[in-house]
Amino acid sequence: MDFNLTEEHIMIRDAAREFAKTELLPGVIERDDKQEFPKEQIKKMGELGFLGMMVDPKYGGGGMDTISYVLAMEEISKVDASCSVVMSVNNSLVCWGIETYGTEEQKQKYLTKLATGEIIGAFCLSEPEAGSDATSQKTTAIDQGDHYILNGTKNWITNGSTASVYLVIAQTDVEKGHKGINVLIVEKGMPGFELGPKENKLGIRGSDTHSLMFTNVKVPKENRIGEDGFGFKFAMKTLAGGRIGIASQALGIASGAYELALQYSKERKAFGKEISRHQAIAFKLADMATEIEAARHLCMKAAWDKDQHANYDLSGAMAKLYAADMAMRVTVEAVQIHGGYGFVKEYHVERMMRDAKITQIYEGTSEIQKIVISRSVLKD
Ligand code: CAA
Repeated sequence: MDFNLTEEHIMIRDAAREFAKTELLPGVIERDDKQEFPKEQIKKMGELGFLGMMVDPKYGGGGMDTISYVLAMEEISKVDASCSVVMSVNNSLVCWGIETYGTEEQKQKYLTKLATGEIIGAFCLSEPEAGSDATSQKTTAIDQGDHYILNGTKNWITNGSTASVYLVIAQTDVEKGHKGINVLIVEKGMPGFELGPKENKLGIRGSDTHSLMFTNVKVPKENRIGEDGFGFKFAMKTLAGGRIGIASQALGIASGAYELALQYSKERKAFGKEISRHQAIAFKLADMATEIEAARHLCMKAAWDKDQHANYDLSGAMAKLYAADMAMRVTVEAVQIHGGYGFVKEYHVERMMRDAKITQIYEGTSEIQKIVISRSVLKD
């Protein structure tokens, strides 16, 4: 067993760290405050290859492994989780889904642009009444021979207004239950496709989250991914990898908050010495460092499983469950260590605490991860 990173991994991590410090840190507080989408920053991330990291170079991607992706996700998330959610959805859900299950035509038409960041994508599964219970899709895609007619509403869609390509999960045949679900590539501008209002969120406020409405949208059959009825499995398989991305996001938010708390604790004096020299604070830092390291190992193990083509449903769910819950604990402690300063925006940790919360909710709540994990450990 070798825990060392390769030279290439270190290079990618350092490049992401430098980019986050120079390009994402300036303005991160204002973007959060004004709920401003990081348009310029995402454009640069595309140019640097962060939006299609694992895609085959023949489709414009970086051809990197999942370990590299986890390392970059952690570094970007340390500074701006609103940017890293765009990165995660584009890489893990949209690019991976099309590359793994799409036709050559779909890859040429969509993946080549998504991988370079020329356009970004969105993944549309959640509905007003189907978030965790993903088989209960109310959106319908009715088969009309050479096309589908799409009707319904999707909720909380990341990249809602900024995406150009949307992977929409919809029910074609109710009688068949989850085996009657399809996934369609829907383009912005298709007649009948409307954008709902932007959500005013607790965290990741720079990312744009919308509801989407589809009224009799005509989607050509060549835009279906996979065989008829493959949509639910597509969603499950795609989300399994997505969970590694969100686990790394949670890891990054936590390690960003920890680094700030560590630095602050060495500077701030109380009762005659730096607060880091009070055991009450030193023990908090010890717990935070240990939990972050444990989450990092879980993320790396899940990434390694994926790179080895082993099953990563379990390791990805464990990584996400632990990293997300850990990020919540660690960011709360980071605010506590900062005292009153932690409660104001200039010190960043209050934003990180708000951002951490979503990692326990999207791409499957912590409770959903426990369903996946318990089913796996209880199976004969
Ligand atoms: N890989 C392949 N197939 C899978 C699978 C996987 N990981 N998980 C389930 N399936 C298959 C099952 O084998 C089954 O198929 P068969 O009937 O052929 O055997 C089928 O899918 C149905 O599975 P279940 O009976 O297990 O389904 P369930 O209703 O009990 O639900 C669940 C399982 C794990 C709870 C699932 O519904 C789930 O993951 N829910 C959460 C959905 C979610 O993550 N939503 C987040 C929205 S996306 C988002 O947040 C993106 C963003 O913008 C950031």
